[in-house]
Amino acid sequence: MMKKILLLYILAFTTVAVYSKGDQLLYKRADVPIKDRVEDLLKRMTLEEKIMQLDQRTYGDNDNVNNIEQNKREVSPLIGSLIYRSTSPVMKNKIQHRAMTETRLGIPILCGFDVIHGYRTIFPIPLAQSCSWNLKLVEESCRISAREAYLTGIDWTFSPMVDIARDSRWGRVAEGYGEDTYANTMYALASINGYQGEDMKDDYRIAACLKHYIGYSLSEGGRDYQYTDISSQTLWEILMPPFEAGIKHGAATVMSAFNDISGVPASANHYTLTEVLKDRWGFDGPVVSDWGAIGQLKAQGVAKDRKEAGMKALMAGVDIDMMDNIYVDYLKSLVEEGTIPVQRIDDAVRRVLRLKFRLGLFDKPYTPELPESTCYLQPSDRQIAYELAAESMVLLKNKKKILPLNNKNIRIALIGPMVSDSLHIMGSWFGKGMTKDVVSIVEGIKKEFANKAEIKYAKGCEFEGDNRTGFEAAETVARESDVIVLCLGEKKNWSGENGSRSSLSLPPIQEELMHLISQTGKPVVLVLSAGRPLELVRIHGLADAIVMMWQPGVEGGTALASILSGKSNPSGRLSISFPLTTNQQPVHYNRRQSSRPKMGLYQDIQKEPLYSFGYGLSYTDYKYGDLKISSERIKKEEKLVAEVEVDNVGVREGKETVFWYVTDPVSSISRPMKELKFFEKRVVKSGSKEVFRFEVIPERDLYFVNAQGEKIVESGEFQISVCDKKIKFEVIE
Ligand code: GLC
Repeated sequence: MMKKILLLYILAFTTVAVYSKGDQLLYKRADVPIKDRVEDLLKRMTLEEKIMQLDQRTYGDNDNVNNIEQNKREVSPLIGSLIYRSTSPVMKNKIQHRAMTETRLGIPILCGFDVIHGYRTIFPIPLAQSCSWNLKLVEESCRISAREAYLTGIDWTFSPMVDIARDSRWGRVAEGYGEDTYANTMYALASINGYQGEDMKDDYRIAACLKHYIGYSLSEGGRDYQYTDISSQTLWEILMPPFEAGIKHGAATVMSAFNDISGVPASANHYTLTEVLKDRWGFDGPVVSDWGAIGQLKAQGVAKDRKEAGMKALMAGVDIDMMDNIYVDYLKSLVEEGTIPVQRIDDAVRRVLRLKFRLGLFDKPYTPELPESTCYLQPSDRQIAYELAAESMVLLKNKKKILPLNNKNIRIALIGPMVSDSLHIMGSWFGKGMTKDVVSIVEGIKKEFANKAEIKYAKGCEFEGDNRTGFEAAETVARESDVIVLCLGEKKNWSGENGSRSSLSLPPIQEELMHLISQTGKPVVLVLSAGRPLELVRIHGLADAIVMMWQPGVEGGTALASILSGKSNPSGRLSISFPLTTNQQPVHYNRRQSSRPKMGLYQDIQKEPLYSFGYGLSYTDYKYGDLKISSERIKKEEKLVAEVEVDNVGVREGKETVFWYVTDPVSSISRPMKELKFFEKRVVKSGSKEVFRFEVIPERDLYFVNAQGEKIVESGEFQISVCDKKIKFEVIE
């Protein structure tokens, strides 16, 4: 026994000796493993200091140094994190300096911000990006966004949002990556790569945040913040995969959502937050509540007061309290009265400290203070914004190949409220984007068509209202031109948070302008800018061509002009279905089969959506060969290679996205009619063929998730489909 005790002493002494270099405290040493730094720091912290690490407030919009004293009162140097709204790295460093030097332990403050589709270089909204099917460009846009945010003093973005939305009345459909689970998963991984890179400690990298965990997008009626009735099957089959994949890919943080998940709100849901996220998936970072989501538990009827809300949120698994001030108000008393074990506080604090160490904040707490001109809107960044915008736009109609507009000296009438807009074109959550940075449609077209076309412009009408005084001028300009480019759309706040609308229609005044212009008999190219699919039932037939430009960001005008001129060959494909009418929803592609497939649909409108998931036209034409597979029968542990030849039979090079779907026609539970399992976008030169391949791995591509979250691969028949081609194969035990 004595021998053992002696050994332990030697071990303990050696450990301390090894680590205590000079007088530097162990947790301050960059050469010490993070887990040891966390434990060393944690044991030094008081309960008050621990609780402060779980608090998050906003700071910013006021970088007047004379007010720093005021902000001293507003921002405690002990606070764990801020939503940093200032654009000043100098201000951030002043706040950080106080945290590092005026507090007992010198714990750096973590600064977060909503860098959703760019910080100052604003890229297309995520819904638009998801129509590009270019994962590399999306990753690149996140890398650039991270760099610009990092140079401002931000260490953490509340992005990517991977809420799968199927009711486009919900305004936040703009912020996700469309209606498909696999697509959202792949874009989530691309975003995490872009933000976090190989190591978050590296310069210009920031922590990602998967949100909103979970099910927020299924708000009743598409009305934001409402109850969400989520079956276990939907939870596991549709909603969980992007989060599970993101966590396993190293996403640093998660945000708990506002919605009530079938009676247990997401921010008080121990099953999703702890049993699944932390215990089953092993997530060891912090969960931050959405803004006020803890206090809102009272409104949702599961907490009698703020104190109970705080207790429920913390015990369910929410680690950081965003903006409620509940944790700082009540956790101490909750611990002292024995309602909350201090171990749960320690667990939450460990997660926060672990994140700060992983970001390198203890070793590099300050932000380089560089000239603004070197931080934002670099030419190479604008080039990526342009490329991503061009690849996100979707050509929905092109009757008689009226596009591209490349006839010499063509007379173009630019009409509509979007033409000269430089604000709404950036969409919701446009970070610190500025209208002066934006290339509007008119600017882009004038530049692209300089010396090639005569451009005339008339606004026609406002976004909404009933002022028709601009109609006459618009009609005159239309009649004097060879082609009309009519630019209609939504204001940026008609989508995004709290941007739910009862109808996907454009305002009547805009539809009226469309009807007026179409009566001139001139060809009409309809350009649409919106944060959601639009209801086009009354106007799509009036247009000869339709381009969905979404909300494309700072290079929106340049990108649209390049599509219209033919400089860019449109390659966007819809990541979300366009219903013919609002009421046709839900109309997503991967629905389950009806018990009477040809019956029960609406009698008064067409069966299919106006434009389906995966739809989009090009200026060239592709011909798909027959599908081939490496074997008609495989065992569960074997792989199967499917391939298809794509022939560019058109006149110009294009980028084609091949979508690979799997169908499981007979299974122990019903399955969607088809599910996207892989996609690949590649250049196909005119007159040449490209072979696209999909390596089917049963445990990855053929499983279904049951209501308990178990992944099951059953033997039996499966189908692979690409375009209109289908091929069967069998999986055997
Ligand atoms: C908002 C949003 C969330 C955002 C947070 C911080 O309410 O729901 O997506 O990250 O607050 O701004």
